[in-house]
Amino acid sequence: MKIRSIEARPILDSRGLWTIEVALTLANGVRAVASVPQGKSTGSSEAVALPADAAARAVNRIIAKSTSGKTFASQAAFDARLIALDGTPDKSKLGANAVLAASIAFLRASSVARHRQLWREIWSELSDSNSAVHPALQPRRPHLRLFMNMVNGGLHAGNNLRFQEYLAIPKTDSIRNAIDIGTRLYRELGDELARRRGPGARNIGDEGGYAPDFADDLEPFRIMRAAVRRLKLGAAFDYGLDAAATDIRTPEQKIGGRDVIVRQYESLTRTSDFIYLEDPFDENAFDRFAEFASRIRLRRPSGRPLWISGDDLTTTNVGRMERAYAAGSVNAVIIKPNQIGSVTEALDAVRAARRYGWGVIVSHRSGETNDDFIADFAWGVGADGLKLGAPARGERIAKYNRLLEIAAA
Ligand code: PGA
Ligand code: ZN
Repeated sequence: MKIRSIEARPILDSRGLWTIEVALTLANGVRAVASVPQGKSTGSSEAVALPADAAARAVNRIIAKSTSGKTFASQAAFDARLIALDGTPDKSKLGANAVLAASIAFLRASSVARHRQLWREIWSELSDSNSAVHPALQPRRPHLRLFMNMVNGGLHAGNNLRFQEYLAIPKTDSIRNAIDIGTRLYRELGDELARRRGPGARNIGDEGGYAPDFADDLEPFRIMRAAVRRLKLGAAFDYGLDAAATDIRTPEQKIGGRDVIVRQYESLTRTSDFIYLEDPFDENAFDRFAEFASRIRLRRPSGRPLWISGDDLTTTNVGRMERAYAAGSVNAVIIKPNQIGSVTEALDAVRAARRYGWGVIVSHRSGETNDDFIADFAWGVGADGLKLGAPARGERIAKYNRLLEIAAA
């Protein structure tokens, strides 16, 4: 793939904050555009995003100069050039946002030039650039589950919930059915909240989930289950929580010498349809994760999986993932390409997770653009789960709609 030009400019994300968009044109005239999201409850080990103007300058001056007119044999070769140009361990020179936008634009242009779906390009990158493909890397698309955000708290909302994301996970192999029952639950939950708390309870947070005040941190699950019963959808959902514990502002409370928060996790994980717990502890608490993970397994109803997942703990960084593996901290991991800053490194993280036997959950960020790359990425790597927020707000809907398109093809 020979590059003719690459250009960046600042655009707005879903919170009205500046991020960047990159347009890359190949010598054959194929042009592709990519933009990158931004988190709010970011992990401190994430690669560094520069302010959008500085990131755009890095693309227009440094990246453009070193890639225009050049031919790159593969995504890995292109990303290796960007990583070398940056030269820092955290992409703080060029900006992880600049590097990732360029990386995705190149991948997208390659897929168009090869007349291949973007997810196929990702799948082939994942398999080709690895000499020995692990058996667990076979496509597992029928198993992709949607972790749909229903209620927002923490840094993503102005309410009193300490936890960040209350997730409903439809139990069906069909993406279309999952989206269908997920959207029905979302609407019914809005009605249920409005009946109980008045119309203002329908207000939503950064990821589109409802964001009123609640009686306590676990009440959203009780109301969600009531909405499911009202819909007569019985056992159609599993549930999950992203505690985003690093950003919990209230000091830890104890009752009878035991942490309130740990008791809340224990009560959640006692029911067999609660299957996913993300970032239950601070982003550097590898051992606390491990202690909890081993203890909770003993109390778990038999036969039901429970994923304890790292996000701020692992930051899509193979070094931190290795540490979590050695400590026994998690059995699943969030993959967010912008935490690490290139397609190639995000694929490395997926490979590491599979070697460890972990669940792979691909995720958007709370500050998104309408770029739907993440849907192709999740499908292409054969992820177990995908977090796209609530089925609300254009920047989330764009991704649900892309997923419907991929699944229907
Ligand atoms: P963020 O949150 O995009 O604001 O970092 C998402 C998450 O914690 O999963
Ligand atoms: Zn998270």
